[in-house]
Amino acid sequence: MGSVETGKSSRVSGFHKLSPADRLKLVQGFAGLDAAAAGHLAQPALDPHLADHMIENVVSAISIPIGVATNMKVDGRDLLVPMATEESSVVAAVCNAARQCYDAGGFTTSVSGTEMIAQIQLVQVTDPQAARIRILERKTEISEICNACDPVLVKLGGGFRDVEVRVIDTQGGPMVITHLIVDTRDAMGANTVNTMAEKLAPSIERWGGGRVYLRILSNLADRRLARARATWPLEAIGGPAVRDGMLAAYHFADADPYRAATHNKGIMNGVSAIVLATGNDTRAVEAGAHAYAARNGHYGSLTTWEVATDGGLSGTLELPMPVGLVGGATKVHPTAQACLKILGVKSAADLARIIAAVGLAQNFSALKALATTGIQSGHMALHAQNVAIAAGATGEEVARVAAVLVERKAVRQDVAETVLRDLRGKA
Ligand code: MEV
Repeated sequence: MGSVETGKSSRVSGFHKLSPADRLKLVQGFAGLDAAAAGHLAQPALDPHLADHMIENVVSAISIPIGVATNMKVDGRDLLVPMATEESSVVAAVCNAARQCYDAGGFTTSVSGTEMIAQIQLVQVTDPQAARIRILERKTEISEICNACDPVLVKLGGGFRDVEVRVIDTQGGPMVITHLIVDTRDAMGANTVNTMAEKLAPSIERWGGGRVYLRILSNLADRRLARARATWPLEAIGGPAVRDGMLAAYHFADADPYRAATHNKGIMNGVSAIVLATGNDTRAVEAGAHAYAARNGHYGSLTTWEVATDGGLSGTLELPMPVGLVGGATKVHPTAQACLKILGVKSAADLARIIAAVGLAQNFSALKALATTGIQSGHMALHAQNVAIAAGATGEEVARVAAVLVERKAVRQDVAETVLRDLRGKA
């Protein structure tokens, strides 16, 4: 069992029962983390001077738990996946879904490319259709201007790829919208494409004969799609009734935006957790995902689910994944660097693929829970511990108070306070 490539297995039994320190030791061995990275994860303080360089007016930093999902097999490679989230059950959901498709091969993934889009908005054009063609005629000059902005990217095999120009009707009249298509390789690329768009703007005004206002990337990064697919055997799902319930849940989401928003939020629980753990831009990925879910004029499910040939469930996920390994917080934040080492990714495309697999796993678990017991029973065990802490429990009191709350099916702070009072009274 385990990855053919590395010989390592992500099937770590009893991982959840270990202490955080022992879990970290195991992850360190699995991923070959050096002492500095492991030391940082054990004491994950963000240096205030570093924080002060990252954003403005820094006064502090917030710590979010990082959990590690086990059982993930992606394209034949066993992985331990670091996920930063404040929500209970998210990491467990990935572990469970991944365990249930592990023997069937795990996840198969791909990407469409690493191209980002920058938009240049040209207004007050008297002949917008002719302006469109005049801009398209300048493809060679556009390419030169763009590539001159980032020679290092060009040396690495990236840079300008194409230009598209659309005339759109708006409340303010027709606008000529130029799209720069740029391969940003291992960078998320926002700074690169924004610089190119700003540099090109005066030329666009000259060629188009109007006025440029906006010069900014599009978060609908539909030339940078990540895709994942997996099949869960019928016995892993729990039989045809569970499978059909999960399919009905998917059909519901795809037909109804009210449900699709929650369905996709569940997918993003997994996606955003890795995006955050690796220091990438969660809002860019979230915006792209939801815009992509509405690309057909109807907001629907980001995943698809079908009955597989063996009667199990076949799931897919496709969404824009503008993430990078170089530049921004990813490069300077020591926690992000350590998380990337745990994943062992060598390119932004590798990272994007793993993220898509985790999003699909997350959706599988949510649908399964929703089609059977509901999500509250799984949620409540950890939530009860948070409630116990909020009620003032410390140390061993936390687990004892939480157990009573779950047993009484009353996970509420007032009940936790009473239980804690009684417990302390007896001590
Ligand atoms: C909760 O954070 C996510 C779910 O609501 C997702 C879903 O409903 O599919 C459980």
